[in-house]
Amino acid sequence: MSVEKAVFPVAGFGTRMLPATKTIPKEMLPLIDRPIIDYSVREVVDSGINNLIFVTSSNKKALEDYFDRNMELERSLEAGKKYDLLKEIRSFSELANITYVRQPIQKGLGHAISMPKHLIGNDPFAVILPDDVIISDKPVIKQMIECYKEIKAPVIGLMEVDKKDASKYGIVSIEKKINNRLFKLSDMVEKPETDPPSNYAIIGRYILTSNILHNIEEIEEGALGEVQLTDALKKEAEKGEIYGYVFEGNRYDCGNKIDYLRAIIELAYNKHELKEELYNIINMLGFKNGK
Ligand code: G1P
Repeated sequence: MSVEKAVFPVAGFGTRMLPATKTIPKEMLPLIDRPIIDYSVREVVDSGINNLIFVTSSNKKALEDYFDRNMELERSLEAGKKYDLLKEIRSFSELANITYVRQPIQKGLGHAISMPKHLIGNDPFAVILPDDVIISDKPVIKQMIECYKEIKAPVIGLMEVDKKDASKYGIVSIEKKINNRLFKLSDMVEKPETDPPSNYAIIGRYILTSNILHNIEEIEEGALGEVQLTDALKKEAEKGEIYGYVFEGNRYDCGNKIDYLRAIIELAYNKHELKEELYNIINMLGFKNGK
């Protein structure tokens, strides 16, 4: 079965980026001229998926407006003969079919993903955490769909991290290396404080099967009243098969201030019209620092 649906959990408060996120959804913070969400939506659409499901909460109306038409803006661009911009702005509502499902209470990533289970049914589906912006030649979800087609089992995105940073991530145990990038997993643990089982962290890209939704139903809420996706994946490692894939690309956690800044710098560096000025600014700052 091909992967035709993608779930975007976008209900979170974005506390790490407060106070900016008091009124702006964290997914709408700009990386130069596009909001964070734009990057992962394009990654998914460029991977061949057209049915997107956003799991939202209150105060996320800006996301819906972004992927809808804005007739007033379109009229103004038309009057100003800004036809290129007009064409681009208009195209947003045709990017994909987007369905919005509300998560009434924040009870963890596992809970968020189970909200649209009636829309997923028995189909395989992708999950994308849009905070994780990944800049790559080939879209990461496309890389992972190619693995899924071969192994026909859930695949989760992995990145090598310093063991000292393991407590920020879900960390996997590797049963067998199939090749340099694809590993069969035997276990995983969410944000281990001590003794991480490896230095491979789960990053916000997953290709899942409906088994995972059944596993989520069986999971008890943790101490903080949260249902962790990692616990449902762990169950899959015990009952069936689950794989990790070390994707190609540079990942930025845009819910973290320094990574957010790094993402902006890499994107500016890749933009022909900004690159030279960026060099000038960095050189100037370097000079001041050295003084
Ligand atoms: C989530 C997952 C975690 C993963 C991380 C990657 O955690 O639960 O396993 O390593 O995303 O960004 P969060 O950062 O949302 O707390």
